[in-house]
Amino acid sequence: CGKKEEAPAAPANAPAAAAPAADKLKVGFMYVSPIGDGGWTYQHELGRKAIQEKFGDKIETSMVESVPESADAERVMRDMISQGNKLVFATSFGYQDFVQKVAADAKDVKFEHATGYKTADNAAVYDTKTFEGAYLAGIVAGAMTKTKTVGVVASVPIPEVVRNVNSFVLGAQSVDPSIKAKVVWVNEWFAPPKESEAATSLINGGVDVMYQNTNSPAVLKTAEERGARAFGKDGDMSAFAPKAHLGSAVIDWTPYYTKVVEDMLAGKWQTGNYWWGVKEGAIDLKKIADDVPQEIKDKVEQAKAGMKNGSFAVWTGPIKDNTGKEVLEAGKVADDAWLRGINFYVNGIEGTVPG
Ligand code: GUN
Repeated sequence: CGKKEEAPAAPANAPAAAAPAADKLKVGFMYVSPIGDGGWTYQHELGRKAIQEKFGDKIETSMVESVPESADAERVMRDMISQGNKLVFATSFGYQDFVQKVAADAKDVKFEHATGYKTADNAAVYDTKTFEGAYLAGIVAGAMTKTKTVGVVASVPIPEVVRNVNSFVLGAQSVDPSIKAKVVWVNEWFAPPKESEAATSLINGGVDVMYQNTNSPAVLKTAEERGARAFGKDGDMSAFAPKAHLGSAVIDWTPYYTKVVEDMLAGKWQTGNYWWGVKEGAIDLKKIADDVPQEIKDKVEQAKAGMKNGSFAVWTGPIKDNTGKEVLEAGKVADDAWLRGINFYVNGIEGTVPG
């Protein structure tokens, strides 16, 4: 008793040990909110787990959650690199300048920045066409609002989010052009109490169906308490609000993460700007509520089919801003560069985009 047992020596014919960790591609993920957010970060985490499962012992993934968009992000990435990560996914817009800084110093590491626009030889950007999901949700909202006033709890005022707000409203107006919309900005990606307060103020202002571009189910939960309706975003949020839930615009990062790892393992990784949508299986409106009329479910399916075969684009003119000015002429389809610069509200949205 108390004497440590010596491990027996391995027999000469023992099978080779698993590949040592140094042979594996180490992949680090940096998240802005907790993996338990049920939305944005949770979906990235599902993507990380999916590639770990798929590539098995060829890769070793790890993650750091709740990393603010500040110098903390730089510190976390440098730490990931010192631990041997050769591929780093930085999954929030505000990491952009920190990615650029660290990438300039670590040329042997590849960086993937979600939703940014700055690239480098060793830093790519990628995103999902979340605005397509917002539009599909908008179709449902347009049919379900009784007050003819929909609302959005918005996060950080960058073109991506303004585009999503507008796309949701365009979807609603495709069902009823008279629909109006209100927006409340919380200026953060993940702030459940603020998200909830914003939802409350929208409901108090006459909104009965809400979308959000924040990371948590707080808006849905508030809708559930107040007898309003709302959508899940990024993740399937149906379980958080069984009565209020109208559908969830779910992102699937797995196809893109799989591609990046395949490219890395084949030595073919390249910088670039990747923007996948309904067509590539990166976004879909899921779990549409039972009480949504069948004709509206069909309309959603038609829009999706059009997004897949290229016959329908959300941003097709004529589109006017909320001062009445035409921003996209009749028949014109906006290109990616135009979409990336959207900084106005479409007709029917109250107020102005924060400057
Ligand atoms: N960080 C957390 N959520 C988001 C999001 O929806 N978009 C962007 N760009 N960054 C995020």
